[in-house]
Amino acid sequence: MTRILFYLADYPADPWVDALKAVDPSLDVRTNPDWGSPDDGEAYAFVWTPEQGLIARYPNIKAVFSLGAGVDHLTCDPSLPGNLPIIRMGDEGLKKGMREYITMAVLMFQRGMPTFIARQETQDWQRYFAPAAADTPVGIMGFGALGSYVATALTGLGFPVNSWSQSHKAPQNGVTHYTGSDALEDFLSASMMVVGLLPETPETRHLLNKDRLARMPKGGFILNAGRGGLVDIDALINALDSGHLEGAMLDVFDTEPLPKEHPAWGHDKIIVTPHIAAITRPLTAARYVLDTIKDMENGQTPPLMLDRVKGY
Ligand code: NDP
Ligand code: OXD
Repeated sequence: MTRILFYLADYPADPWVDALKAVDPSLDVRTNPDWGSPDDGEAYAFVWTPEQGLIARYPNIKAVFSLGAGVDHLTCDPSLPGNLPIIRMGDEGLKKGMREYITMAVLMFQRGMPTFIARQETQDWQRYFAPAAADTPVGIMGFGALGSYVATALTGLGFPVNSWSQSHKAPQNGVTHYTGSDALEDFLSASMMVVGLLPETPETRHLLNKDRLARMPKGGFILNAGRGGLVDIDALINALDSGHLEGAMLDVFDTEPLPKEHPAWGHDKIIVTPHIAAITRPLTAARYVLDTIKDMENGQTPPLMLDRVKGY
């Protein structure tokens, strides 16, 4: 019988246990804090932000599934065994959710919605004619599972898309690819809106700093739904206050929940959302986890396994 050790802080485990059991009623699902003893036999962990040291206390764990696409909540634990397979969430619902969120944010900014919402307060019928999508290039930083999926929705709406990633990408209609750190500044200068869909790694930290934000066209926008570390928040606020940039929508932050005193909350050019850009759905996620376990037991390597060298 397959054993799942499930961990989710602050939210009920029931929908997840129900979903796992709906897919395979024979599962033995244990939820924190009742994981039982490591001597109970082999198990797979399925977790989000587990307390540090917990995974290491269970040497019977064969692989760890992240409940989200990011794995920084696991890799930040220094006790995490170096050879333990870590598998990122590959739920279709996550990709669709991100596509909706980024498309919404791009359209909101392109069509000037924050301006109209503000003008409604004073019954101000001033018209604003939005630039065409074709004149609003959107740059996606991080062109992996999510970035490349989002791009197809944006090109479908007529936005020219720029991608930025580490490795070369196959040609794609409507997308101009930029590769590696040497190309970052050209990518930024060519992008009126910059979408962050990068993982948190030492290399991605504060890539959007004062100098790089200055490379963006005047009137540009930042949309960050990857990880908060990408953006130097003080530099972003300065760029917004100086009028160089026009707006930002931020879903992820270094500290979450975002502290009440954080300057983003009260900034009139920043829209804050509470890390909801894409959420994992229990049933589709349960199917993904259990299918992946089957594949692993048949000797296959899951496509979304963390590469410990790259860090994502
Ligand atoms: P992937 O691993 O599939 O893609 C990551 C992309 O980032 C790849 O294109 C990779 O380049 C690129 N990349 C990584 N490091 C660098 C670097 N140093 N320089 C240039 N490019 C780099 O991840 P996903 O698309 O699945 O997810 C991206 C992130 O989105 C997750 O790590 C997570 O943090 C975040 N996320 C946020 C959610 C939310 O609700 N806000 C929900 C889900 C995910 P290459 O292609 O060359 O390898
Ligand atoms: C994440 C997620 O990794 O919510 O942020 O999936």
